[in-house]
Amino acid sequence: MTRRSVTATTDRDRQWWKEAVVYQVYPRSFYDSDGDGVGDLPGVTAKVEYLDDLGVDVVWLCPVYESPNADNGYDISDYRAIMDEFGTMADWETLLDALHEREMRLLMDLVVNHTSDEHEWFQRSRRREDGYEDYYYWRDGSPDEPPNNWGSFMGGSAWTYDEVREQWYLHLFDEKQPDLNWRNADVRDEIASLVEWWLEKGIDGFRIDASNYISKPEGLPDGASGRSPTGVEQFSHGPRVHEYLRELYERTFSNYDVMTVAEMNDTSVELAREYLGESGDGLDMIVHFEHMGVDAGPGGRWDPEGWGEWSLPAFKEIMSRWQRDLGDGWNAPYLGNHDQPRIVSRFGDDGEYRTESAKLLATFLLTSRGTPFVYQGEEIGMTNAEFDGLADLDDPQTVGAIEDLLAAGTVDSYAEVREFVNYVSRDHARTPMQWDDTENAGFTDGDPWFAVNDDYTEVNVADAIADEDSIWHYYRRLIDRRHDADVLVYGDYDLLCPDDEQLYAYTRTLDDEAVLVVLNWSADPAAFEPEDIDVSASSVLISNYDDASARGVRRDYRPYEAVVVEL
Ligand code: GLC
Repeated sequence: MTRRSVTATTDRDRQWWKEAVVYQVYPRSFYDSDGDGVGDLPGVTAKVEYLDDLGVDVVWLCPVYESPNADNGYDISDYRAIMDEFGTMADWETLLDALHEREMRLLMDLVVNHTSDEHEWFQRSRRREDGYEDYYYWRDGSPDEPPNNWGSFMGGSAWTYDEVREQWYLHLFDEKQPDLNWRNADVRDEIASLVEWWLEKGIDGFRIDASNYISKPEGLPDGASGRSPTGVEQFSHGPRVHEYLRELYERTFSNYDVMTVAEMNDTSVELAREYLGESGDGLDMIVHFEHMGVDAGPGGRWDPEGWGEWSLPAFKEIMSRWQRDLGDGWNAPYLGNHDQPRIVSRFGDDGEYRTESAKLLATFLLTSRGTPFVYQGEEIGMTNAEFDGLADLDDPQTVGAIEDLLAAGTVDSYAEVREFVNYVSRDHARTPMQWDDTENAGFTDGDPWFAVNDDYTEVNVADAIADEDSIWHYYRRLIDRRHDADVLVYGDYDLLCPDDEQLYAYTRTLDDEAVLVVLNWSADPAAFEPEDIDVSASSVLISNYDDASARGVRRDYRPYEAVVVEL
């Protein structure tokens, strides 16, 4: 067991997790080693060398615990066991060793806002077994009327009536994901003990799922803000959330040299600061969602009207605020993950400029202040898929949202939301990883659990590695540059030309080192003519057009051109 070093080693408060690049693996869709069509742990181990070649430092593994898979592993029925489809605990240990042998680290997913309804605690609680009565939120009421008006993130009410206990239980997510009652000290003991159990196994940190929802207000008052889902203003950042997280930190994380990253939808920079660092609740970083809202309709992500358009100045304003105003807190920049569409389809151009725009997005991510999170497939520019009907979808959130729209009469058929789903669904990120151009993209020898994106013959790892100019090699070089340049990790961030609708340009500065990043985030040429910055002695650190043609800073930038120069 390694103890966390208490004093910072330099005035920059150097930490390994600040210097790391994280790669997120969605194991179900990564690599299938045994031909059952489902990605698994030996499949991840088989690709550790691949990840090492790419240069990433930390692997974040989405949940691999025992689960009935109502929400692909985010519904856990045993926190100390591995899901059969993914392998065994010995397979998991082999993966941890393989990563550690290459000096890479393992970040596990901690899903403790809720369990599966198949977890033993819930089974005992629904039978009112001694000591388990209050493990979840149970409320009386007639079976036709839920105790309050809260809505679920998966559509419909946040309450389900349980025939066994003859009471309602709360689930902010799927009905198979009942919310744990954190007010109960026994529940908090159980959570601290399972966290400790994994830390003792030698993992390097946790990503804490849905962490701002763990405290619910006394009396569970109705929601009244008109926000979606109904009640979110009541249960987001609830009254005891800091107390719970601080307590968990003190009992567990603070005793280990680990990183913690808290997923927090619905969070402002000001709120985030209250959680971060020693002056907050001890958390290292927060995954916020502000930029994920730029292209949503007025009613939020699942509003089928007004989606898809986004403005670069608005995006820059959000990202810059998080880069600048977090104080001692640390960012966790990302553009995509398993809950979001593919980044090149959403923020880039997945047609003519797929390669250039995927490289531009990589440049942005890997020159941001904070610990960058790369999601599997981004390194080869994987794109959104096409889903022709409800039956083609897997994600309970997308399906729940469509069912709500149908039930409310907002739309009459899937056909009316087809285009919207093909833009927004979480399923896009969950199509199998494209390893090569053989059948099923080399993901499995069997029938894949989820359809492979048709573009795998052109977009795949084997081709990308064979081509020195590929998106993959560009990621590899960028990661290398970042590892070599403290300025890209610790440097201050300053935005240039905030109102420019095509260009996103900023500097990163640390002591006497300075770097300028110029991104033409558009399919048209754009002129960059900065006035207040000395660019006379610049040299190109990396660019997505060939270096020779990228010389000179004051000039026209080509479609999706991205250049990083040392000043
Ligand atoms: C988080 C996960 C998401 C899951 C939800 C419920 O947002 O990222 O995939 O559905 O929590 O656990």
